[in-house]
Amino acid sequence: MDWGKFKLELLVGQAVIPYLSEIARLRITIFKEFPYLYKGSEDSETTYLQAYAKAPDACVFVVRDGTTIIGAITGVPLSEEPAAFTAPFASGPYPLDTIYYLGEVLFFPPYRGQGLGSRLLKEFEDHVRALGRYKHFACATVVRTENHPLRPSDYHPIDGLLIRAGLIRHPEFRVTLPWPDLDGNVTENMMEFWIKELHSLNRP
Ligand SMILES: CC(C)(COP(=O)(O)OP(=O)(O)OC[C@H]1O[C@@H](n2cnc3c(N)ncnc32)[C@H](O)[C@@H]1OP(=O)(O)O)[C@@H](O)C(=O)NCCC(=O)NCCS
Repeated sequence: MDWGKFKLELLVGQAVIPYLSEIARLRITIFKEFPYLYKGSEDSETTYLQAYAKAPDACVFVVRDGTTIIGAITGVPLSEEPAAFTAPFASGPYPLDTIYYLGEVLFFPPYRGQGLGSRLLKEFEDHVRALGRYKHFACATVVRTENHPLRPSDYHPIDGLLIRAGLIRHPEFRVTLPWPDLDGNVTENMMEFWIKELHSLNRP
């Protein structure tokens, strides 16, 4: 895929370590926004991201403008995530070990709405297919009320992006996760899963 003036880089295993703090900054900055409203710290982010250096099959793609990381996508087998998060998959039609989880896809605001997110999602999906071990890929979005007081009037949900990429919303698969709000208080936040079936499982 031609990334024009941007540079795409795939980081796996220990290769992600030198970029942890730059990716942490991307997450901290963007996850302050609605609908996440998450107050991250460099310490908690670095710990979270270190899992991507250790987990088998984890991946991080970064997109650069010059030398600066302006976007990223992260992924890990869903079975590597904490049990509280994967509880909806404990039984049912989507066995945990067949699912690859998209942790986040992020671009700084000036780079949004130009097709970069869709291209990065496609690169990600191609990578997951090439791994050959996963039958589905999934992500989770934050559920907020329509009249949430912090919803910006120009808020742009990511549903269109996910639907165009072929993901299907599964409101029956929901979890609540605690995280620090912008004021530092830890509250429970509801997330729901989206799933796409892949057709490239290379195992019996
Ligand atoms: C979601 C995101 C990665 C999409 O990247 P992008 O380059 O803007 O996406 P594209 O230009 O390929 O596609 C546009 C789609 O992205 C979504 N989108 C989300 N926020 C957007 C914004 N501020 N501007 C434009 N599109 C946005 C919409 O679904 C949009 O589709 P639509 O116009 O049909 O509604 C990017 O907008 C972003 O970083 N948003 C904030 C972080 C986030 O919500 N990440 C997803 C969950 S971790």
